Amino acid sequence: MAGFRRRFDAIMQLPANNSQFETKIAPDRRDVTQPADRALGRVIACAGSRATIVASASGAAPGAQDGCAIGRLLSINLGKSRIVGLVYEMRALEPVWNEAGANAVAVEVELLGEVVDGESGTARFESGITTYPPIGTLAHRIRLRDLEHIHDLGHRKGVVVGCLTQDAGVAASVDIERLLTRHFAVLGTTGVGKSSAVALMLRKAVAAKPNLRVLILDPHNEYAHAFPENSARIDASTVDLPFWLFRFEEFADIVFRGRPPLEDEAEILREVIAVARSRYRVVSPQDMARDLGSSVLKRPLDLGSARKPGETGGTAELAAPYRLADLFAAIDELIGLHELRYPRTTLRALRVRLEALHGDPRYGFLFAHANSMETIAPVISQIFRVPHRGRPITVFQLAGLPSEVVNAVASSLARLAFDLAMASHGSYEILLLCEEAHRYVPQDPALGFAPTRQAIARIAKEGRKYGAYLGIVTQRPGELDPTILSQCSTVFAMRLGNDRDQEIIRAAIADASASTIAFLSSIGNREAIAFGEAVATTMRMRFLEQRPEELPAMAGRLPSEADRREPLVEELVARMRGL
Ligand SMILES: Nc1ncnc2c1ncn2[C@@H]1O[C@H](COP(=O)(O)OP(=O)(O)OP(=O)(O)O)[C@@H](O)[C@H]1O
Ligand SMILES: [Mg+2]
Repeated sequence: MAGFRRRFDAIMQLPANNSQFETKIAPDRRDVTQPADRALGRVIACAGSRATIVASASGAAPGAQDGCAIGRLLSINLGKSRIVGLVYEMRALEPVWNEAGANAVAVEVELLGEVVDGESGTARFESGITTYPPIGTLAHRIRLRDLEHIHDLGHRKGVVVGCLTQDAGVAASVDIERLLTRHFAVLGTTGVGKSSAVALMLRKAVAAKPNLRVLILDPHNEYAHAFPENSARIDASTVDLPFWLFRFEEFADIVFRGRPPLEDEAEILREVIAVARSRYRVVSPQDMARDLGSSVLKRPLDLGSARKPGETGGTAELAAPYRLADLFAAIDELIGLHELRYPRTTLRALRVRLEALHGDPRYGFLFAHANSMETIAPVISQIFRVPHRGRPITVFQLAGLPSEVVNAVASSLARLAFDLAMASHGSYEILLLCEEAHRYVPQDPALGFAPTRQAIARIAKEGRKYGAYLGIVTQRPGELDPTILSQCSTVFAMRLGNDRDQEIIRAAIADASASTIAFLSSIGNREAIAFGEAVATTMRMRFLEQRPEELPAMAGRLPSEADRREPLVEELVARMRGL
């Protein structure tokens, strides 16, 4: 070890402008608060975008190797420019540790880019490496000002969402415009602070973009707590989603409670819906006078107009209302046909199913006011905040909905979000935030509900052109459809213990720095590695601390007096029934 110390000291004492190493060090303009000795070690290997630095660590001077901690940035000085490296692995070169003296440590770094000094003394950061470090180049603890340059968004408008882990004095900013328009994902194991981070970013996003609407699919009913002032909370008791606005597949999913309908069942339902639609007519007072007693509202069974199986119509047609009474009547007419086209038992079973749904108070939001609405305008106005009346965020609480309808509701909302953004010609931009996204767009195509997957994938693939954006939050990136993740141009990777989950992130992120994220399994709460378009460069950051009243409810809420009281069994049962 003494031998290493001698050799290490000898290397470190080589003159900085030693021609052998071509390391003419620019005058040090570092902050006076930084320690005097910033030299960490020298480059001993370099391959592709990675380099190995040999440094010295000693038990006696614990602060000496601070600059080399995993996840930190260091700089490799080339004179006119300084290469920035991200430390992703460290190991002692000898299998023993010398308490008293120096120990050789190999520090593996990913080379992220270069800080170049300009003519006027200003410096700027550029991703990618133009000059690779020769063997023997000195590596330094990074300068505070270089850190600021690296994470500076330049002319792009940034909002501060946290600070760097490496130096809490340097702000972590994101470009909100890019964050939204290129879709984003927040991934991390349970309890690391995903929802709190999302609440923080959404608050900043609506403040920065007045024409933005945010629709949060909130499976744990937690977000309303975070936005008491600027969100509208919607749940089964306050929303009307008329049954007629659902697409056939969505309505069938509700009627058959998530099981795929049998061929006959699907055909009958499709046919009777088409018949009921064809019989629907908005009756104006003039029409009423003229048509009184005529068959306007009840045309004869016109099976010719029924849509053929497998056919789907455009948005306008799909949103056209129809009456439940006409649906029942159409089934009755099929039951009464002399030459039966479908088994009577199937027809009767379908009628019973529809009656049961209609009579079930949990499904009141589908049926109660459906036939007093003639267009989807009130639905759009309520859910998508048109006009927003100071509350541009909608928190759609899914926890109180019957579980059988969650898929259909999510699908219809995602579909409406896209269609509305498209129809608004840019006057509204809509962010759909999916918590627990792996439920809606699972990796296995056989799982999940196809229409929800399609609607979300449509936003991910084409939404950008029309102002419909996607925010994905999940604890299980491994169970999420990788094609959706790869459409998210900004990823906040929070703590992820699972190797497979880390692998998924590596695959999804084009950025080379993603290959070095093994340390994701050990980062702290509120910490994230931010990759992608909305940040200047990959950064290890900590989200701003928020006050308890700014956090989503599950995270920040203390149980109220009422919560602490033991509920009566009747109350529990009523809650279970969603009453
Ligand atoms: N930015 C923050 N400021 C203050 N506290 C935070 C912040 N982020 C997280 N916390 C704390 O961390 C805990 C978990 O936060 P949060 O609910 O956001 O995690 P999560 O990743 O969404 O969890 P889950 O996967 O269970 O939904 C809470 O106790 C919360 O108080
Ligand atoms: Mg959460």
